[in-house]
Amino acid sequence: MIRTKILGLGSYVPDRVVKNEEIAFLNDQHVRQETQQSETTDEWIQRRTGITERRYVPNESGLATSDLALQASKRALLDANLEPQDIDCIILGTLSPDLHFPGTAVFLQDKLGIASRGCACFDIRQQCSGFVYGLQMADAFIRTGMYKRILLVGAELHSHSLDFTTRGRDVMILFGDGAGAMVLGPMESDDPKSGVMYTSAHADGSGAMSLYLKIFDIAKLPYLQYDPRNREENQPMYPYMDGKRVFLNAVRGMVMSTNTALEKTGLTWDDINWFVPHQANLRINEKVAEVAKIPPEKILNSIQFYGNTTAATVPLTIDHWRQQGKVKRGDRILSSVFGSGFTWGATIFTL
Ligand code: ACO
Repeated sequence: MIRTKILGLGSYVPDRVVKNEEIAFLNDQHVRQETQQSETTDEWIQRRTGITERRYVPNESGLATSDLALQASKRALLDANLEPQDIDCIILGTLSPDLHFPGTAVFLQDKLGIASRGCACFDIRQQCSGFVYGLQMADAFIRTGMYKRILLVGAELHSHSLDFTTRGRDVMILFGDGAGAMVLGPMESDDPKSGVMYTSAHADGSGAMSLYLKIFDIAKLPYLQYDPRNREENQPMYPYMDGKRVFLNAVRGMVMSTNTALEKTGLTWDDINWFVPHQANLRINEKVAEVAKIPPEKILNSIQFYGNTTAATVPLTIDHWRQQGKVKRGDRILSSVFGSGFTWGATIFTL
């Protein structure tokens, strides 16, 4: 029977580290000012979120989301011992695309130097759940024989769309830039526990307006109705979040999908090496661990170092801890995610 194997894993974060102490002094060009630009503190950020620092693309670097995706993809391909031309499908999850259209996967394909080969390119829009949704898609494609070498990427360039005033502080302190990628392919195996063992994907659209970034409203004519340089008018440029509602639903969705993953596969925590939750807030993950009774020594977080990198958090966290020597090839990972939409899901796979 054909099952899906993880052939390679890679991640990338830009070099610029923005610590909590610095973020309050940044202006909207990410330049440190002498006076504080927003009312926030290292103490508040760490206590409420667990974040100590995040990465931003360098000022005036001209980098786009597809450039971060490119670096993570190159590393995943190297890890898989494959070349870009071996890829026959790209699935890219992001909430910070290069442009409104076309999708970011085609920019990545071109930057990988394989545009002339014409492989399939999908953009998916499931925000923080993008990695699990993408893995479910990739797994289905591989099991049916539709594609043989899939590049699955989560990439985000958040730092350009944050509000660095006190108005935006609740969201601004959470997000960082980064990318994670996996290369997936088929293997012959009758062991139901091998490779990608399980995926689930869910959504509840009634939560859509609890966490969104408008930029435009296509129901309006004209569809942009603000002056981006006017601070009072330009709110649609920045994310809106009902933090408490997102928090409660995230805990519920991640606990539910984690427990269901174990029930459906018949596994217990003894069979799982690592639990890798989406990285939105350390307090969310602590609550999920408490309610779902997850052994604390099996939980991997990376939000302390990278903030929330949305579609990239799961592969980025796994790769971070692999580089530290903690995660190894052959480890079984359970991951659960929750994001804007609301969307959520879980997966169990062997690295
Ligand atoms: N610094 C200092 N004070 C702040 C900051 C800040 N950065 N942000 C908010 N505050 C203030 C608030 O204004 C409020 O002040 P008030 O009491 O005078 O009104 C006070 O701190 C408490 O605010 P709360 O919103 O009650 O704080 P809470 O404990 O809920 O933490 C947070 C806010 C961190 C945003 C939390 O709600 C959260 O993490 N929610 C979930 C976020 C999340 O998961 N987002 C990503 C989803 S994934 C995706 O798809 C993108």
